[in-house]
Amino acid sequence: MPDKATLDVCLSPGLLPLYPLDNKVVVVIDVLRATTTMCVAIDQGAIKVIPVETLEECFSYKGKEGYIIAGERNGRKVEGFDFGNSPFEFMNGIVKGKTLVLSTTNGTRAIRLAKNAHQVVIGGFLNFTALTRWIVNEGKDTLLLCSGWRDKFNLEDTIFAGAVIHHTQEHFLVDSDSAFAAEKLYLNSRRNMFHFVKQSSHYKRLAHLGVVNDVKYCLRPDLTDAVPVLKDGALVRASIKDDLEGEFFSLNNQLKK
Ligand code: MLT
Repeated sequence: MPDKATLDVCLSPGLLPLYPLDNKVVVVIDVLRATTTMCVAIDQGAIKVIPVETLEECFSYKGKEGYIIAGERNGRKVEGFDFGNSPFEFMNGIVKGKTLVLSTTNGTRAIRLAKNAHQVVIGGFLNFTALTRWIVNEGKDTLLLCSGWRDKFNLEDTIFAGAVIHHTQEHFLVDSDSAFAAEKLYLNSRRNMFHFVKQSSHYKRLAHLGVVNDVKYCLRPDLTDAVPVLKDGALVRASIKDDLEGEFFSLNNQLKK
């Protein structure tokens, strides 16, 4: 019986240098809202999503045929960009057949920091079951990277990481304080997640901007089976290799228990 692959949680991009990335799958998590937005864009038919760290690089694509640029800082759309970072902006066919170039406060920076991993994939509640099936199928050492807020810990990304740990740990070797803590946070919040997340700093930031509906949407599990993966610097839809036997849990069902 081969040794099980490891599954671990990095609570902030600031801690990422402590984690070797070679031959690892890194799941980048930014529930509010970057990785949710990326899942929506890929689900809605974007050819690819290019995550860039700086607004300058993002802006350099403005006006290019077939490209849409989206810039967010501190939860607000940046002036001069086509879009901000609300997932609702990328529905109704607006990105279909287009390339979305996106720069956000934390999420796109986390993706860039993880670029030397074997594979970078995108996770959020929106693609929870598809994402967890994908990492179990891959069967590689996996690191759940919480994007946090400007390198500080945040609640919502850690809760998501805890949900992944709780529902896939039978397939992995899980043995770290951060994984243990993340799972406990999830177990303590899953019965009324919106109420729990309302205590978070980013909820308060977004509520102040009047985008509470974004938060409610970002917490809805399994709205898409799209799993964005980073290929040549851009996020594209992963092919789902689904050789898992039998019924696989759905977070939807889990949260209803
Ligand atoms: C981030 O990158 O931290 C978030 O996506 C910010 C936001 O859009 O609210």
